[in-house]
Amino acid sequence: MKITSAEFHISAPNLDACPNWAFREFAFIGRSNVGKSSLINLLTERRELAKVSDLPGKTRLMNFYIINRRWSLVDLPGYGFAAGRKAERESFNAAVAEFLEDRVNLARVFVLIDSRLPPQPIDLEFVQWLGRTHADYALVFTKADKHSITQAQANIALFKAKLADWRSDIPEIFLTSSKTKLGRTDILASIEATLTGHAA
Ligand code: GTP
Ligand code: MG
Repeated sequence: MKITSAEFHISAPNLDACPNWAFREFAFIGRSNVGKSSLINLLTERRELAKVSDLPGKTRLMNFYIINRRWSLVDLPGYGFAAGRKAERESFNAAVAEFLEDRVNLARVFVLIDSRLPPQPIDLEFVQWLGRTHADYALVFTKADKHSITQAQANIALFKAKLADWRSDIPEIFLTSSKTKLGRTDILASIEATLTGHAA
């Protein structure tokens, strides 16, 4: 899929504030600093569409972007960031949970996981929780450029083995790098397939 336009639309603190439109939405979530905003910039080939930061917890609101005037990308706040007041942190987590459980427009969730790490409890718990909602999801292993593909594949294999303990169908998996552009065309092809209703 060629990206012809990518525009920021709105930041929403909760489900009620989400846009009232017919666009199908593809949401990106994962731990703070895993590379959500970088991946959105990679997919859209816009260097500063989503704000990238070395400080975890930069994205605190649900940020909606309109792509090709046809569909939407949603940059969700990272789970597990330590900054901010406790009440604020909890209200954002609750808002994201409500979005993932109830948002009618939501077509698919991409869960980002750092490919450099063996399976982390926080990621496994999140994926397990997500599996209990009706949301369709895929896994995206990020920062592939930071180590060898073999090491990344080993961590992916470990994660799949953990998943297999509690679900029989393994979700679609991508390996990406915002530096080398690895995974970009595969993710866009998968989004296109979902939008058109054809298998990738
Ligand atoms: P929060 O919004 O804080 O939750 O973070 P985020 O998940 O949006 O991460 P962000 O895209 O801001 O990236 C965090 C840091 O990781 C930045 O310093 C990025 O430059 C770096 N980074 C992200 N993706 C990659 C990647 O694929 N390769 C490398 N080498 N660095 C990356
Ligand atoms: Mg971010």
